[in-house]
Amino acid sequence: MSQVTDFIVIGSGVAGLRAAIEMATNGADVTVLTKDKANESNTEYAQGGVAVVLSDDDDAELHEGDTLIAGAGLCDEPAVEVLVNEGTRYIKELIEWGTEFDKEGGNLVFTQEAAHSRRRILHAHGDSTGAEFVRSLIARARQEKNITLLPFANTERLLVDESRCIGVRYLDPILRSPRDIFAKAVILCTGGAGQLYQHTTNPPVATGDGMAMAYFAGAEMADMEFIQFHPTALSLDGAPRFLLSEAMRGEGGILRNVNGERFMGRYDERLELAPRDIVSRSIVAEMRRTGSRYVYLDMTALDGKFLRHRFPKINEVCLQFGLNIAESQLPVSPASHYCMGGVRTDLWGRTTVPGLYAAGEVTCTGVHGANRLASNSLLEGLVWGARAGKAAANDELSSPVAKRAQTVSDNSAAIGDTRSAIATAVRKRVKRVMWERVGILRDRKSLLRAINEFEQIAGSNLSVSSRNFVTLALLIARAALWREESRGGHYRTDHPEQRLEFQRHSIQRISEPISSAQIVDFNATGPAKLRA
Ligand code: FAD
Ligand code: SIN
Repeated sequence: MSQVTDFIVIGSGVAGLRAAIEMATNGADVTVLTKDKANESNTEYAQGGVAVVLSDDDDAELHEGDTLIAGAGLCDEPAVEVLVNEGTRYIKELIEWGTEFDKEGGNLVFTQEAAHSRRRILHAHGDSTGAEFVRSLIARARQEKNITLLPFANTERLLVDESRCIGVRYLDPILRSPRDIFAKAVILCTGGAGQLYQHTTNPPVATGDGMAMAYFAGAEMADMEFIQFHPTALSLDGAPRFLLSEAMRGEGGILRNVNGERFMGRYDERLELAPRDIVSRSIVAEMRRTGSRYVYLDMTALDGKFLRHRFPKINEVCLQFGLNIAESQLPVSPASHYCMGGVRTDLWGRTTVPGLYAAGEVTCTGVHGANRLASNSLLEGLVWGARAGKAAANDELSSPVAKRAQTVSDNSAAIGDTRSAIATAVRKRVKRVMWERVGILRDRKSLLRAINEFEQIAGSNLSVSSRNFVTLALLIARAALWREESRGGHYRTDHPEQRLEFQRHSIQRISEPISSAQIVDFNATGPAKLRA
């Protein structure tokens, strides 16, 4: 059985919701497929806030400069300009739609995060910024009668006809059988892939399916080696790897090793507010030096009342595990957090596959380069969600829906149901190898071993979702092997230096071995040219 709609959005995080609203207000019928409940996404768990130029002592050039420095020579400058210039407008629009950012005396309050030269991070309910984004965007989307939201609709593949994306195949949540929807275009907003790693701040939905689906549909993937590891995830037996926001360090929290020594001075003069990759590696070095599985985040110098008001969610979760954030040393260690790479798009969310657009963490727009500046991704999801929605409506609304019977080469429902024990085992193994060999520190030997193991797994008879999972692991490991230098989130112990000849983007396509693209005009030479 198949359905038809004008546009399909996959994912209901900030990017997907914003894209759907944009297309619906352009008069299109939009079907939003999402894997779990509508509010289950990375967006929902975002804590620290959203970076935006709105305070009197800030300007777009400063935000742009900070983003470029964090990106370590791999940002696409036109993309960063779009982010910071349009970001302010879209945040103001979000406020008009009812998003409640924290205020004091009627004025917005801004917090500090690492590598920002100004206090420019807006937050909501203290440390629940993402949940407030989702609440207000879902409420806004519900006002549009032509948006249909399908929760628990796990999408497994993109349908492609003559190199054009014409729809998707998902698992019907009630019938548990594959179902096709055809549309004028598909907007991929499936978020990141933190779950590829054994230790992650990401929720279970963040398995990177959209990246793998796009790759199999022929899309170009860029900069897959760049994974951001957040330095401070709770590290306690029996507790989830719950994020302890960078804003805690922004408000004055300090890091100590298990011997009680404040150690960041040994590694970087910016101390606890050095970029995330540096703080994460410093923590790993201290853990090794002291033979411990964690270091401590120490907030005890701050006022307890302030901390409970500023970080209510973190306080609540820590209390469940017997930790009082104002009195206890909080055990933390790094965990995978964010994918800088992904499906290559242009400034309007067009991928290299006609009919396929993408926005948010699933993409590589060139905004983040080798390392994302804290709190830039909610902003990117908002700006590129709107832009991809606009571009899709402009480019495709008047096109016919190309509905074609698609041959099914596998029965994913049956495989998924009968082989779930194998799927669980595959994931567990891949996550472990990713953590140990494609993690914070990598080298040629560890990467070759990982690739060898992933190729063996990929060669076995897998369900579609397991194949997607291990393929993504392979893409990251192959790109990390290719990049024989250290830059941003990618650290090669056998190549600790940054090398000029690698100031290029890694590019992977299903039809070709790994190659690279020049930094200049990443967007202009990308999807627009390749699709023309
Ligand atoms: P997501 O919000 O992850 O949404 C992806 C959607 O796709 C989900 O609805 C998911 O269910 C759906 N999906 C996935 N696969 C499928 C499939 N196969 N079929 C159907 N649907 C699918 N960034 C900031 O800027 N500021 C912060 O303070 C911040 N804090 C963070 C804290 C945490 C704990 C985490 C994990 C991330 C944080 N980030 C933060 C990063 C930020 O939240 C994400 O990068 C951003 O929200 C991604 O938005 P998105 O719309 O691209 O994807
Ligand atoms: C945090 O609150 O530390 C997360 C911010 C981000 O990932 O941008």
